[in-house]
Amino acid sequence: MNILVVGNGGREHALAWKLGQSPQADRVFVAPGNAGTDLDAENVDISATDFESLIQFAKQNDVGLSVIGPEAPLAAGIVDAFQAEGLPVFGPSKAAAELEASKVFCKEVLRNADVPTADYQVFRNGSSAKRFISDRYHTDTEDVPLVIKADGLAAGKGVIVCHNRKEALEAVDRLTSEQEFGTAGSQLVLEERLDGDEASLIAITDGQTIVPLSPAQDHKPAFDGDTGPNTGGMGAYSPTALVDEKMLSMIDEQVLVPTVHAMKRSRRPFRGVLYAGLIVTNQGPKVLEYNVRFGDPECQPLLMRLKTDLVTLFMATIEGRLDQIEPLEWDPRPAVCVVMASEGYPGSYEKGFPIRGLDEAEELENVKVFHAGTRLHNGDVVTDGGRVLGVTAIGSSISAAKLQAYKAVRCIRWNGAWCRKDISDKGLTYASE
Ligand code: AMP
Ligand code: GLY
Repeated sequence: MNILVVGNGGREHALAWKLGQSPQADRVFVAPGNAGTDLDAENVDISATDFESLIQFAKQNDVGLSVIGPEAPLAAGIVDAFQAEGLPVFGPSKAAAELEASKVFCKEVLRNADVPTADYQVFRNGSSAKRFISDRYHTDTEDVPLVIKADGLAAGKGVIVCHNRKEALEAVDRLTSEQEFGTAGSQLVLEERLDGDEASLIAITDGQTIVPLSPAQDHKPAFDGDTGPNTGGMGAYSPTALVDEKMLSMIDEQVLVPTVHAMKRSRRPFRGVLYAGLIVTNQGPKVLEYNVRFGDPECQPLLMRLKTDLVTLFMATIEGRLDQIEPLEWDPRPAVCVVMASEGYPGSYEKGFPIRGLDEAEELENVKVFHAGTRLHNGDVVTDGGRVLGVTAIGSSISAAKLQAYKAVRCIRWNGAWCRKDISDKGLTYASE
């Protein structure tokens, strides 16, 4: 079978790499891909949002499975477009992808399905949100435990966690600024700030059966000790003892099952990846957000550990047969992914620096270097984005996997390369290994 992966990040490199290992896979194409996917698969120079060209390519190249990586094409209806042409495609419909594309819709589903989440209110414009804040909080010194979120997709930047009135009022102004957020901030969600550690619980569902993957943990703040601005994710590891067996069944019962049922009832059956961003509070796990695709970088350590054939899993999802597949098989060993980034990220950064030491890093045992923002230029791999590489290693313990991942990181260099030094350290605090 020929397979097409749509997207160009670290997640898509991991998907193409894993799909390519399937005995069912013939050719694996990635559109548009990066330098890493060009090595492990075949790049196709079509943008992830050019549906017409992607469909034409899939038809001409006998593609039997298309896998959509990022949220933007899903929210724009790529799955509906492929299905209308009779092409098998893995991912949710446009209507189901609203779960990520609209935070207002997501909160409504959570509330109606009685899924634990932060209390919230929706505002249709900035002035009513500011009036609410000023009416409720009267001084600049008191704690204002609010999180302010733009309704629409904002590449992970549409959420501002506030601590005082000034921050909250400024957050409303920022998120409703058309220049920065376009129409994403035309509605706002104001919600209660929750306290706790976060985990990513990613599940595959065909709308009936839910298959949770092993729990993972991302590291969103830029710098060590969870300080600095938020990023797309500076590293991840799996499994995490923050979500043990007992909590996993609680999440299944209280979060995943009611959500999938609610989507079905509202005639938006969900098929694809349902990724619950969770916070573990002292009242139990609560949903911070849903995403409708694999997490990046969580996908990288997860797929390094997954032994089950991904083509079988995705085809069963598309065909509504998830109830018939064998339980997922995992490598019990933990995997750790360290993101190497460009100088300046998550702010502005330069591109085009040649990357050295990739071969040396990949020669290390139990290491895979997933590319994100890279491209080939005159035979050299050069930087082409903020998050450049996801250096991933598997080991007998979290500490062993971490050690190996950072050993590989030390082989790799370019002008301005940096990474967090503490990826997976939190994992050691949840349970002794
Ligand atoms: P989201 O895109 O909704 O997951 O939000 C991005 C990040 O903001 C999350 O990973 C959390 O760190 C933080 N966040 C979002 N909502 C809340 C909340 N209600 N309480 C505390 N932190 C939050
Ligand atoms: N790792 C966070 C995300 O993919 O949204």
